[in-house]
Amino acid sequence: MQVRFASVRPDGDYVLALPVGSGSGAVDRIGLDGAALAIVRRAAAASRFEGEAGAIAEAVTPEGEGVRRLLVVGTGAAGDNERNGYEQAGGALTTRLLTSGEKTLVVDVSKATGDAAVAAAHIAFAALLRGWRHDTYRTKLPAKSKPSLAEIVIVGAGDDFVSKAEATWTPLKALADGISFTRELVSEPANIIYPESFVERCQPLKDLGVEIEVLDEAAMAKLGMGALLGVSQGSERPAQLLVMKWDGTGGAKEPIAFVGKGVTFDTGGISIKPAGGMEDMKWDMGGAGAVAGAMKALASRKAKAHVIGVCGLVENMPDGKAQRPGDVVTSMSGQTIEVINTDAEGRLVLCDAITWVQRTHKVKTVIDLATLTGAMIISLGHEHGGLFANNDELADALVAAGKASGDKLWRFPMSDAYDKLIESPIADMKNVGPRDAGSITAAQFIQRFVEDGVKWAHLDIAGMVWAAKPGTLWDKGATAFGVRLLDRLIADKYEG
Ligand code: BES
Ligand code: MN
Ligand code: ZN
Repeated sequence: MQVRFASVRPDGDYVLALPVGSGSGAVDRIGLDGAALAIVRRAAAASRFEGEAGAIAEAVTPEGEGVRRLLVVGTGAAGDNERNGYEQAGGALTTRLLTSGEKTLVVDVSKATGDAAVAAAHIAFAALLRGWRHDTYRTKLPAKSKPSLAEIVIVGAGDDFVSKAEATWTPLKALADGISFTRELVSEPANIIYPESFVERCQPLKDLGVEIEVLDEAAMAKLGMGALLGVSQGSERPAQLLVMKWDGTGGAKEPIAFVGKGVTFDTGGISIKPAGGMEDMKWDMGGAGAVAGAMKALASRKAKAHVIGVCGLVENMPDGKAQRPGDVVTSMSGQTIEVINTDAEGRLVLCDAITWVQRTHKVKTVIDLATLTGAMIISLGHEHGGLFANNDELADALVAAGKASGDKLWRFPMSDAYDKLIESPIADMKNVGPRDAGSITAAQFIQRFVEDGVKWAHLDIAGMVWAAKPGTLWDKGATAFGVRLLDRLIADKYEG
């Protein structure tokens, strides 16, 4: 979808949308009069429209009255969640029009409440994201199901509207590009995206100034990454450790690290999962996908921050060579792990990736993202990601970035009592505790690899990377949870 900003409405055939804040008589505030106002008033009354965020009153205008369809779209109450109201409006317009047959949507924000440039950019952002689809393998889509909406033109008043809207849009466009990239990685099936092909898809980030380094299995073996390699040993696909570096500070700042779980398919290994729903485990690389998309967003907008993104990429398969329950592996940190359950593989991948980035890049802050536990979905469903941290300031900053960006987080407790639950009779620890508090014991496991003086947060995003229902900014499927969050955190805490 093309996005354009203009100071006058274009000529030609299009749908016109007029955003309006909530309250009774909303439609009287959009600058219409005569026959058009009468039609819109009837449409609003018929759908009980009062400008609620994302609500739409649609009027089909008689021939000769100009635009064919007129949509009044609600942006909700003015106030501090104004951006959210615009995003709901932009998302709702796209939902309504994407496959409607209409090609061009013109949104006139000149009567919108608040800052017109902000309204314009956030409506465009939501429209673009809500319109994202993965149709790569649908060769027989009926014409009526194909997206028709190709262009969105956002019109505002005032001489400097266009330049202000473009300035607000540029970083949001970068963020949307990062999100789209994550969704692509997450949506692809596991015969297409596996460790090596994941790395290949990330290579174009070089053109944005991202430095890319890849450790193959030989390099990882030399470093002693027995935990990560143990997960991978049942797969024909070789594991990869992908490292993406973005320094927008010219060497002036210490790096912060993002580490993603990139299990490109999780069968469970020898502790094999049941068949029903196993196909979902193609998105067990959603943490790594979010890290790659965040790196793309940050580099695209030339963020003044120094960030290292690490993706631990493996496939977890059962095989004659696969690791067995009860095997003991030695991690890069030197700590030994009794692998009780080969399906608790994410933590085994993360621990070596985290040790590597701490030792190689001397980072003082590490944030990992992982579809780590089914228990997290039991706890929080699909509304919040789980947050675990060893530092209150970092945790608070993440919660705040979650609220501001829309990728919401909820913090969980950690303690020595939970940590005791993963003690092993044969090794330094085991990779699972009892069923109770499964997400917390997983976090305790990872924390054992966090080195002294390092601020660390773990985001268990198992319930968030894939949506069964459409949302404001996504259709069913990949959400790219984490990308908006990390971009917001960097913008608020690690730039300038
Ligand atoms: N990738 C899964 C967690 C998961 C399950 C994510 C469902 C999204 C949806 C993870 O590797 C896993 O299998 N975890 C086990 C841990 C258990 C063996 C302690 C789980 O949650 O069942
Ligand atoms: Mn698993
Ligand atoms: Zn997994």
